[in-house]
Order: sequence, then C-alpha cells, then structure tokens
Amino acid sequence: RLSTKMSKSSVYVTRPDVDASGLDLLRKSCDVSTWREALPVPREELLRQVVGKDALYCALTDKIDAAVLDAAGPQLKCVSTISVGYEHIDVAECKKRGIRVGFTPDVLTDATAELTVALLLATNRRLLEANKEVYNGGWKSWSPMWMCGQGLKGSRVGLLGFGRIGQEIAARVFAFKPSQITYTTRTARPQEASKINAIHVDFEEMLRESDFIIVCCALTPETKEIFGTEAFAKMKPNCIFINTARGGVVDQKALYDALRTKRIQAAGLDVTTPEPLPLADPLLQLDNVVILPHIGSADIETRKEMSRITARNILAALAGEKMEAEVNK
Ligand code: DGY
Repeated sequence: RLSTKMSKSSVYVTRPDVDASGLDLLRKSCDVSTWREALPVPREELLRQVVGKDALYCALTDKIDAAVLDAAGPQLKCVSTISVGYEHIDVAECKKRGIRVGFTPDVLTDATAELTVALLLATNRRLLEANKEVYNGGWKSWSPMWMCGQGLKGSRVGLLGFGRIGQEIAARVFAFKPSQITYTTRTARPQEASKINAIHVDFEEMLRESDFIIVCCALTPETKEIFGTEAFAKMKPNCIFINTARGGVVDQKALYDALRTKRIQAAGLDVTTPEPLPLADPLLQLDNVVILPHIGSADIETRKEMSRITARNILAALAGEKMEAEVNK
C-alpha cells in the first residue's frame, strides 16, 4: 500500500550553538540535524552532511560554494545564514540553481552600531591600555597628561558605508558633537544624511580630512583591501581607524605598518583576517590597537532573534513563500 504520509523536509545546521528557539521552530516541521561542536563544521563533514538536504542553516564561518551545492544535490531549496553579511555564500551560484538565500539584516543594526561606538571610545580614550596600568603597577598617581586620548567632540568623522548600520553609527556619534560627519558611498543619500547634517564626500577626501574613519560597508570586490598602504599614507597622523565590517576590507600588513610607525594614531578592530587572529600576529604586540573577537551583533536578544529569523527564512523558502529577508542579487 502506498503511504500517504508526506516526508518531512530535512535541514542541516552547521552550528549547534545557535539559540535553541530557532532550532525549535525548525523541528516542528522538519528533520533537523546539526554539527556537534560549537566550532565551525570541518569542510569534509559539511560536504558529507549536506547530501540530500532541502535546506542549509549556516553561519559566516562556512564557505558555501558550488562544491557544497553540488554535494547537497538538486533538491536543495534554501541556504540561510545567521548573519547580515553573505560574502561567504556564492549567491550567483545559488541563484543559477534556483536556491533561495536568506540572511538577517535589520535585527542586528542597533547592536552593531552600539558595539562600534564602544570600540571607538575604547580606542580613542585608550581604555584597554589604561586598564592594564591599573593591574601592572603603572598607575602611580593621577597625572595631568597621562593616558590622554583624542575626543570625538569637534572632530571630523568619516564613514565608509552609509547603509542601515552606518546610519545608526552616525546617529550615535552625532551625540558626541563632532564638527562634521561625512559619509562615502557610491550614491549620496541626502535625506538620511540631513538628520545629522552629514555630507557626502569621495574616498580621497574622507582619507585626507577625517580624524576618525569608521568602516561599515559590505565586503565586495570593490571594497576588498581598499584600505592599503596608499590609503593609510593619505590619512592624518591623528586618525583613528575603526573597522566593524569585515577584515577583508583592510590590507592588514599595511595597517600594521601604519600603526607601528605611528603613521596613524590608533585602530579599533572587531574584524580581522583571519579570524581568530593567531596569537603570534604582530598586531597583538602593539599598544595602539584594540581588537575584539567579532562581537558586533553579540547582544543576547539580537542573537536569539537572528537564530529565529534564520529558521523562519528556511520555513518560508520551503513553503515557497516570501522570506523575511532574502538576498536579491
Ligand atoms: C554579520 O551578521 O554579518 C556579522 O558580522 C555577525 O553578526
């Protein structure tokens, strides 16, 4: 007798450590299997586990290319990443095969903007350097010019990127009374910029005039290593460079040289190449850099909701419905 029972869709999840609320949503109607460790799934294991799956729940630590899609097979309908960035996914290849791609924009905008400001303040006011002095005996007395940093007030702040996250960073920075906020993008966004009197400038002007540069653009072939030796050479010597976007936007060796030679004042990085940064990396020897382990969106409620959106994107794609956030490229 033929069974009338429909088989459940199958989903492979590359991170067992995402918030359970997302996985619970999937389990209601799908067979869910996950990688077992709270670390990126090894490539070979991913290629084995994805075979025959209808959907893939992945993270920015997974490279989803043609080989993964081939291994999965033609029934794969959706790749859903728990991130706003999707440069780890070969979107063109997915589209060619009719595979829908989900991501998590918007929900993490405020958390990322908040962390960017925290990193900016930690860098310009030298918080980590100063904190070490408390523990190592370097704090001898209150001292008039000791541990002074460069304030945001009266400074010129340049953003590379003025999308959702860039605009929220700018809104927060505005409260610190900079003399001018500028933004560098392909197309001007006068309406959004008018709220904080920001002006649109080209990349050259941003490099030459900014006291603070904040990178908040996507990593694309155009922005890959856009901050290299030439760019750092054009910056003001007091410039403080903040990157909460992607490590790949920076030529890290050039940044290291610029910091070591004091070509620029300091840097605050939430993203590096590679991640994690090896303990032997020369950047870790410098005092004028603050490095965080890619925690821009690491706000508890944000990460929980990211887990659920990633799941809901999958459920919508499997049902052939509109996804909450689909990469349309
Ligand atoms: C993203 O979502 O792309 C961030 O880098 C991590 O949340």
